[in-house]
Amino acid sequence: MHRIIEPKILYFGTPVVLISTRNPDRSFNLAPMSSAWWLNQSCMLGMSGRSKTVENLLREGQGVLNLPSTELVGAVDRLALTTGRNPVPESKAEIGYRYEPDKFGISGLTPIPADLVNAPLVAECPIQLEAQVEQVHAFDEQNGSIKAIEMRILRVHIAEDLLVPGASNYIDPEKWSPLIMNFCEFFGLSGKIHPSRLEPAFYGLPRKTEPATNIVAPA
Ligand SMILES: Cc1cc2nc3c(=O)[nH]c(=O)nc-3n(C[C@H](O)[C@H](O)[C@H](O)COP(=O)(O)O)c2cc1C
Repeated sequence: MHRIIEPKILYFGTPVVLISTRNPDRSFNLAPMSSAWWLNQSCMLGMSGRSKTVENLLREGQGVLNLPSTELVGAVDRLALTTGRNPVPESKAEIGYRYEPDKFGISGLTPIPADLVNAPLVAECPIQLEAQVEQVHAFDEQNGSIKAIEMRILRVHIAEDLLVPGASNYIDPEKWSPLIMNFCEFFGLSGKIHPSRLEPAFYGLPRKTEPATNIVAPA
């Protein structure tokens, strides 16, 4: 049986991204977000145009998409309800946001210089993606302030222990543990079910002919 409901939010579970950007005074901003999806060498970000992050991305045209693992949930949560915007936009002040100029300091995360962009990498994040803004679209769901920002990934930094041994360009999905925002709660992944039939096509391996019939339920 299904029911028709009207949920307040439709956050069905996506990885958290910590976006670092440069402020006009050359200090750095850092903000958590999770409305992000990936295609080829690009990422689409859905973010409020009232955020400091969007202001910085539009002005500088670049930033770093840092992916926190589940272990960094405390640092991500310390950044919640803060903004680099001063004064705090009214709609955010009403729900308890405060201005915070030192996002790295309050989160306990460490900025280190990137190679190609003017925003820092977050040292503790196992995946750090230097990126440039390609296109900005309006995302007019409510009041038109939300932007869909297409970012092209310029350089990928990976913690070595996430790599498949002996294969320098392959990330082992069994070792990567993304932090997932599922509605307004943090989750990790629950474990592998079985490989996708897409896998050989993506990695240029011999095609498997048999359909995936023996589906094993996760433990
Ligand atoms: C886990 C998490 C996920 C979030 N996801 C989004 C998001 O996808 N889009 C968005 O606009 N804001 C999101 N936010 C709220 C932003 O962090 C908020 O807009 C904040 O003001 C951004 O900081 P800034 O103003 O310094 O850029 C999220 C917050 C948290 C804690």
